[in-house]
Amino acid sequence: DKPTVLVTGGAGYIGSHAVLALRDAGWPVAVIDTLVTGFRFAVPDDVPFTQGDIADQPLVEALLRSHHVGAIMHFAGSVVVPESVADPLKYYHNNTVKSRALIESAVRCGVPHFIFSSTAATYGTPEESPVREDAPQQPINPYGMSKLMTEAMLADVAAVHPINYCALRYFNVAGADPQARTGQSTAGATHLIKVAVEAALGKRDHVSIFGSDFDTPDGTGVRDYIHVSDLAAAHVLALEALIADPATSHRLNCGYGRGFSVLEVLDAVDRITNRPITRRMDGRRAGDPAALISDNSAILARLPWQPRHADLDQIVTHALAWERRLDDMRK
Ligand code: UFG
Repeated sequence: DKPTVLVTGGAGYIGSHAVLALRDAGWPVAVIDTLVTGFRFAVPDDVPFTQGDIADQPLVEALLRSHHVGAIMHFAGSVVVPESVADPLKYYHNNTVKSRALIESAVRCGVPHFIFSSTAATYGTPEESPVREDAPQQPINPYGMSKLMTEAMLADVAAVHPINYCALRYFNVAGADPQARTGQSTAGATHLIKVAVEAALGKRDHVSIFGSDFDTPDGTGVRDYIHVSDLAAAHVLALEALIADPATSHRLNCGYGRGFSVLEVLDAVDRITNRPITRRMDGRRAGDPAALISDNSAILARLPWQPRHADLDQIVTHALAWERRLDDMRK
């Protein structure tokens, strides 16, 4: 029978989608989240929830033992790139030091499988796009480095302890649950699609376009936007792969292998709402590469993953539906 999966950060954006994907697939789930950036409402009422810190080892180890946890999906962490530049020690603490404590608890309690939220930011500015998993990992910000250090810890730990892991390297995660059960709820978001749907609903008066002189077809930045529900589904399949072959660990890009420019994203939002957002040309953001696209042949070969929501209009439509839902909830 299926063992319980402990989801750290399960009240956050991606974690809450993983909780739904696991639950929909029949896995027992428990969530631990500090609620510093997560929301209690994002976790279904029938899922055991603990408000707490992943580095609180007595708390975590009690949870691992009482729920007979058979796998950890580790989403908890800090995710804002510019903030990581301004406050690197926060990122090395939240993402690296606390992950170390969690991994130690997993080893002590004999948890056999670990799935880690890693990022394309570990590649820095890749020399080749699409980027493969064996490309050099040279992060250009503390966020990427803090995640890369955790990947390194997992590799070293898996070599000597009875645990295997999957590091999933996310590209640009966007959209929301197609049934609008959860979505991205964080205030002050900086991600393009979130910003654009906020503007479309009148919560911002414009969207800045950060750079129009990149070496891309229309001059704006190109990214591999992946629907959060497809990403959540990949986590469930990664878990099944870890269980099927406990001797093997995985490092897999999560993207669709195609990209859209900033202008293409804004055009999609305008088309769907039938009302143009005000656009403002702005300078490049520090550290933004021109294009970041995944080579996803490894995940397609290793997992029976079938992307279902790769369509940009669908990603935007679901993001918009959740943004409206958030408005209704706040009324
Ligand atoms: N952009 C704008 N205007 C905005 C916001 C973004 O023009 O208001 C542009 C950016 O310059 C970039 C693209 O839209 O070209 C996407 O920017 P995001 O801020 O949405 O995402 P990033 O590509 O900068 O970073 C995201 C995550 C990181 C992760 C990275 C990996 O935020 O955590 O993807 O691909 F590491």
